[in-house]
Amino acid sequence: MRTSRSSLLLGCMLLCSVSLVYLGMSGIECPQKSHRHRWMELNLGSVNQSLPLPEHFPEETPLIFIGGFPRSGTTLMRVMLDAHNAVRCGEETRVIPRLLAMRATWSRSVKERIRLDEAGVTDQVLDSAVRAFLLEVIVGHGEPAPRLCNKDPFALKSLSYLARIFPKAKFVLMLRDGRATVHSMISRKVTISGFDLTSYRDCLTKWSSAVDTMFSQCQAAGKDRCLPVHYEQLVLYPEEEMRKLLHFLDLQWDLSVLHHEELIGKAGGVSLSKVERSTDQVIKPVNTDALSKWVGHIPSDVLNDMAEIAPMLSRLGYDPHANPPNYTRSEPLASPFNNSQGLKTAGSSNSS
Ligand code: A3P
Repeated sequence: MRTSRSSLLLGCMLLCSVSLVYLGMSGIECPQKSHRHRWMELNLGSVNQSLPLPEHFPEETPLIFIGGFPRSGTTLMRVMLDAHNAVRCGEETRVIPRLLAMRATWSRSVKERIRLDEAGVTDQVLDSAVRAFLLEVIVGHGEPAPRLCNKDPFALKSLSYLARIFPKAKFVLMLRDGRATVHSMISRKVTISGFDLTSYRDCLTKWSSAVDTMFSQCQAAGKDRCLPVHYEQLVLYPEEEMRKLLHFLDLQWDLSVLHHEELIGKAGGVSLSKVERSTDQVIKPVNTDALSKWVGHIPSDVLNDMAEIAPMLSRLGYDPHANPPNYTRSEPLASPFNNSQGLKTAGSSNSS
């Protein structure tokens, strides 16, 4: 009796072992390689997943950050870059600007700073954690590519901070005539916290202040790190603007950037989100349809006070009293920071 029970037990064990070996050899497939794993293979040659994160994603990673005020052509810029054979930007992550905004609050109060220091949560510890989070999200949310890029419009409110934690990163700041941007927001009901969509005056005032924050940091970062690109120039002179941009990013010229619409949904091409507001516009080739759509929609009392309401218009080179200004350029641009000077002041025929 005892002999037959132990033979049964032995038989069961043998059957289990054979099944496990069989499953191991054939039945169970490896899970699909993660974007992170494939990025590491591409960029680091060999892969050792057990290495600590900073060794995989060094802070010297030459990331590209695209941003600006929403409705300034930020999605168009990122899809044009996505069409480049060496670049992947991908959809907005949404979490990156939120983390950056949170990070900005952590050290703001002196009392809190002391508490954090006492706990050993120094700025260095926080920066290293933020860097790791950003890299994980940027690498993990899309296809691998030699140059990774991120487009979350308001991330550039933290441009100086990003420039510090990623010393090799470059920044592309999209700029657009605030009247067009605000009209786009209001007519398409694009809500931004704190903006009153029933008031052009309120939105233009806040547009000016938000753009001031980003543009000032772009200037402070310097022309080697940050390139301001005017939406109007991009759609009027796409080849010239993209050549200048690729040169700034140390990337070779690739004609595909002028035909992003042909690469939508293709491997290594342009991936679009079904729920982003600009998706139905960026599926089209670059066009100039949206340049002056705002004309005739802004109340006259707001137009009269435009220079005071939105001082950033003049600072960026847009005539605040021309409705619309002539967006064509009078002469080739010498330096990225002279972009605004290249915009013609309003021709008399265009002024209201
Ligand atoms: P309008 O709403 O005035 O049409 P963002 O992506 O930063 O929110 O910017 C949206 C603006 O980019 C939209 O402005 C849209 O027209 C413009 N845009 C998107 N795709 C474009 C394209 N293919 N050519 C020209 N402009 C485009």
